[in-house]
Amino acid sequence: MKTILITGCSSGFGLETARYFLDRDWTVIATMRMPREDILPGSDRLRVLPLDVVDTDSIARAVAAAGPIDVLVNNAGVGLMNALEGVSMDTVRDVFETNTLGTIAMTRAVLPQFREQRSGVVVNVTSSVTVLPLPLLSVYTASKAAVNAFTESLALELEQFGVRVRLVIPGRAPQTAFRANSLARMGMNIPEAYGELATHIFARMQQSTEEVTQAVDVSEAVWRAATDPTCPMRLPAGADAVAWTEAAKRA
Ligand SMILES: NC(=O)c1ccc[n+]([C@@H]2O[C@H](COP(=O)([O-])OP(=O)(O)OC[C@H]3O[C@@H](n4cnc5c(N)ncnc54)[C@H](OP(=O)(O)O)[C@@H]3O)[C@@H](O)[C@H]2O)c1
Repeated sequence: MKTILITGCSSGFGLETARYFLDRDWTVIATMRMPREDILPGSDRLRVLPLDVVDTDSIARAVAAAGPIDVLVNNAGVGLMNALEGVSMDTVRDVFETNTLGTIAMTRAVLPQFREQRSGVVVNVTSSVTVLPLPLLSVYTASKAAVNAFTESLALELEQFGVRVRLVIPGRAPQTAFRANSLARMGMNIPEAYGELATHIFARMQQSTEEVTQAVDVSEAVWRAATDPTCPMRLPAGADAVAWTEAAKRA
């Protein structure tokens, strides 16, 4: 029986992916900042562990408590939507701490085990805005694009040990808590000079008839990354992410 450890399982893609792998008979270590067992179906294959990816001690405790795993999914992430001039450097650092350094720290913590067992898969969840950029997302996009670059280099480094590293690249999923959290982090403090652009972008987001990404699209892409050794490095998740990836290739 295979074991997967997923970060950020309290909601959205992480929660859905935990359910998806439980349904397919995997042992799931669902990690959260504030552990809650009641949001997942009861199973003797489920373990819920506390984990804050910006806290080195928390990472060490969670990885030690988890024991041997086959797949790590770096899903935990925070959004940020604002013009760069409206964002403090503390906020920039916070976003990179979670999205970029959290992913790197988690990966680093499981690598000795993966290298020694000569197997293991790391799946990093980034975003389709790294493929087709949008305004007001510069800091968030940079934090995720850094993970794309990190993943693609690391994959080459770990191939020799039978360890795979893959990217899951979701499109927009307005139904998760993510957008509300991004907007809250913005604090509605868009500098006046960017007001017109922001109004235009928000209207475009509201009116868009594009298909969006469902949480299950992300779970399916993670499943593919975890189980198919021949899958490509970049797995767009969601109809919009697939369309954006194709458009970016043509651009
Ligand atoms: N939704 C979208 O439109 C979208 C699109 C593309 C990519 N993504 C990416 O997909 C991933 C999941 O997003 P989602 O849509 O499922 O959003 P979500 O519902 O807000 O879930 C984010 C998860 O990350 C957790 N998290 C945040 N900071 C953490 C930390 N320091 N340590 C551990 N966990 C932490 C949150 O936990 P708490 O409950 O404790 O805050 C939550 O469980 C993120 O990496 C995001 O960047 C999202």
